[in-house]
Amino acid sequence: MNKIIGCILLLFISLQTHAQKVDKVPYDSARMKWFEEAKLGIFIHWGIYAVNGIGESWSFYNKEISYKDYMAQSKGFTASKYNPEEWAKLFKEAGANYAVLTTKHHDGVALWNTKQSELNVVKQTPAKRDLVGPYCEALRKQGLKVGLYFSHLDWSQPDYASVTSPGEINTPTEKRNPFSYPPQGKDDTVRWNKFLNFHRSQLKELSLQYKPDLLWFDGDWERSAAQWRMWELRDSLLKWDPKVILNARMQGYGDYLTPEQGVPIVKPGGMWEFCVTTNDSWGYQPKDRNFKTPRQIINMFAETISMGGNLLLDIGPKADGTIEDEQVKILKELGRWNKKHAEAVYPTVAGLPFGHFYGPTTISNDSTVIYLFLIAQPWDNITLKGIRNKVKSIRVVGTGDTLAYYKNGGASWLNIPGVLYISKPTKYDENLTVVAVDLEGKLDLYHDAGGAVEKN
Ligand code: GLC
Repeated sequence: MNKIIGCILLLFISLQTHAQKVDKVPYDSARMKWFEEAKLGIFIHWGIYAVNGIGESWSFYNKEISYKDYMAQSKGFTASKYNPEEWAKLFKEAGANYAVLTTKHHDGVALWNTKQSELNVVKQTPAKRDLVGPYCEALRKQGLKVGLYFSHLDWSQPDYASVTSPGEINTPTEKRNPFSYPPQGKDDTVRWNKFLNFHRSQLKELSLQYKPDLLWFDGDWERSAAQWRMWELRDSLLKWDPKVILNARMQGYGDYLTPEQGVPIVKPGGMWEFCVTTNDSWGYQPKDRNFKTPRQIINMFAETISMGGNLLLDIGPKADGTIEDEQVKILKELGRWNKKHAEAVYPTVAGLPFGHFYGPTTISNDSTVIYLFLIAQPWDNITLKGIRNKVKSIRVVGTGDTLAYYKNGGASWLNIPGVLYISKPTKYDENLTVVAVDLEGKLDLYHDAGGAVEKN
């Protein structure tokens, strides 16, 4: 009897640990270090969808094109001008420290010669060669970290559509998408296990062949953590490479969060990376001319690092492997700006909490410099509040111009600092000017709701 109770208790404890792990994977600072310091990464959505210039995978899922016609794009995927060295140089020039390439999107077409399926660019397209290996090599040559995107869900694998997600249980069978769910509504766990085996085998190939620094997952939402057996997957991935970093699209079993398309208004809890497109499309879509301006992108970058995140900026190369001029221009301008303002970007941490300055800020690693990003031009002075330190000097980053300043107000005897008024610069950067405030000693911040000054 005692044995039975013991077993039940053990089972309960082990279920509990799994449940806790869903939202909380212990933070591992040594493993995450390079990522925390990286600030900028380049996301690359490259696949057969670039041939017609249509939506990656979603276009057939949403019935904008038949599955057959979608797959027929394979015939035009040449990669004939694919030059990963040039990509890597451009990313480096942009100021990126890593990149993430779609090795397999939801359509299931692998960019490497996977042994698990015929559906890969080596066997199905005129490219006829592995596209992942040369990318990894070129990145490493430039000192960039290698990220590989992989979609858990695979709408080309018939075994994938063999079980129903708990979230879909109430959706009428006829409304379920046959690419995702068993059309007859009947679950077949034998086939699902077969799919999981395929899924693990592809990931093992990627992990062992390319040793990525980062695995960027996507498409976890159609199944639960339990169906994916995500804790088990996490363990395997870290066994294959204890240094690999995993994003959180693992039903909570990853290392960092991935807000998408809108800069977070509220700082996400924990480590994070914001991914965004340069126009409105992830992959190459020549009809989409709705590009963000370099200034808009640089502003988003400043807002992201100000809240302690990384920016993962997306490009969508053409089927031949070349990158559109607009995207090249954006990356080059980002590079010019980053080079000039490097000290405000790279060796920094998240900036001041809301309320001290009207705009994004960062703080040097040693806490002795505050960087103010002037998203808007000031009318007369730039104002900075709540700084108790004495100021050594204030200068414009990248030009060395010094700016006059004075402090006014406050109640020094109670340690309530006055407002720091800084003269506005005479010259502005064409996209985003940054002002450095050099402090005496480490930042000493007044961040308080205030009250009556009872001693005068
Ligand atoms: C979404 C989309 C996918 C895209 C990804 C990038 O998950 O489904 O198409 O690749 O975002 O973050």
